Amino acid sequence: NQAVQPHQQASSLWSSRLAFILAAAGSAVGLGNIWKFPYITGENGGGAFVIVYLICIAVIGVPVLIAETMIGRRGGQSPVGTMRSLTDSEGVSRGWRAIGWNGVIASFLVLSFYSVIGGWSLVYIGKAAAGAFVGADADAIGAQFGGLLGNPWELLAWHGVFMAIVIFIVAKGIRSGLERAVNLLMPLLFVLLIAMVIYAMNTDSFGRAVSFMFSPDFSKLTTQGVLTALGHAAFTLSIGIGVIMAYGSYLPKRVNIAGTAMTIAVIDTSVALLAGLAIFPLVFSNGLEPGAGPGLIFVTLPLAFGKMGGGIVFGAIFFTLLLVAAVTSAISMLEPVVEWLEEHKGVSRVKGALFGGLAIWFIGLGTVLSFNVWSDVHPLGFIGYFEGKTVFDLLDFLVSNLMMPLGGLAIALFAGWAMKREGLSDDIGLRGGIYTTFMVVLRYLTPAGIVVVFLYNFF
Ligand code: PHE
Ligand code: NA
Repeated sequence: NQAVQPHQQASSLWSSRLAFILAAAGSAVGLGNIWKFPYITGENGGGAFVIVYLICIAVIGVPVLIAETMIGRRGGQSPVGTMRSLTDSEGVSRGWRAIGWNGVIASFLVLSFYSVIGGWSLVYIGKAAAGAFVGADADAIGAQFGGLLGNPWELLAWHGVFMAIVIFIVAKGIRSGLERAVNLLMPLLFVLLIAMVIYAMNTDSFGRAVSFMFSPDFSKLTTQGVLTALGHAAFTLSIGIGVIMAYGSYLPKRVNIAGTAMTIAVIDTSVALLAGLAIFPLVFSNGLEPGAGPGLIFVTLPLAFGKMGGGIVFGAIFFTLLLVAAVTSAISMLEPVVEWLEEHKGVSRVKGALFGGLAIWFIGLGTVLSFNVWSDVHPLGFIGYFEGKTVFDLLDFLVSNLMMPLGGLAIALFAGWAMKREGLSDDIGLRGGIYTTFMVVLRYLTPAGIVVVFLYNFF
């Protein structure tokens, strides 16, 4: 199939390899690293969970990231359009098109809760700048967070502001909107995180935090914890739901996919580990619970900002950068939805972003209520496995632990088994023995890893 696909026209391509790396890394690095990774690590007992997560990144995350980018570039359309055109050109079953659909639906759902947490970071920019943390102890900081969670209107409003920002950027289009948004601020976030780690080194609990994160106690790890680690490996790299496919569709042919994917994985993993190293010392030195749940960073980092010199400025900048990281991930989640609306419903980008975004905002109500009015509502609680899970927990479970890993499985199988092998080595930018090894991993190890984790969990 030699025809030039829509997104592969010169006018719509990323301007450079760096632009793609920045955008894809912008999608990868987000709340997943700084908000989610520490709190699920805390809930799942630390070291053993981290090790399984790192193995999942290497064996499943990176291969799927490579495969998904390659598929996206070959298809050059929205995930749905790409899968339609590739199943035709490769002459394989239309069943593979489910990959595209899974992507559009999952990115819709994931943004509905991601944006609510994005709203929390908006609130915390204001709190930090207003000096709300100065001199506050753990109880006071905890009460501030509790107060926010207890107010559904406030949560809904900030979730709305966050969505408005995302809609605005996506409506402006891929180049002007996405590229510019990510250029300078991500490196700055990295620097700030390192500063936080240095601060944490001077607490009395740095050693304890390091051993919590890195010395594994496998008796603390449940099979559900293993699934969570797998799901998070997918979540944190943005793979399995067409986001990377959509970004890959704009990637120029000359760019080496494998090298780019490795770079992104290294950046993403470093940010997550740094976040953990910044947060757990504060958890332990203040006598807090590592398993405190989704509020973990919002009840720990403010303690440090409240005590350090210049904490008002530093805290406000930190939460601003967290917001930027969240926004650059959120725009990537809206992208498959908007591309699908554009291509298949014939609506303009602006309208697609607006309608898609509004629908997502509305679905986000379920997450907003999970933290207050519905905090005791456990829709699937009658099934032992889902005991105690709120609507938010279930959405997160559905997307992160089911749709993303299963999407990743399908992508690995499609690229590894269904697609023709010619040109593949050039396409992903691996040669010789490394290419052969990669293909063995993609065809056997990656799928087997995902299948085994699922079998253990559900059978
Ligand atoms: N990878 C993003 C993060 O870690 C979240 C994300 C998930 C982005 C799925 C896009 C798609 O914050
Ligand atoms: Na991430």
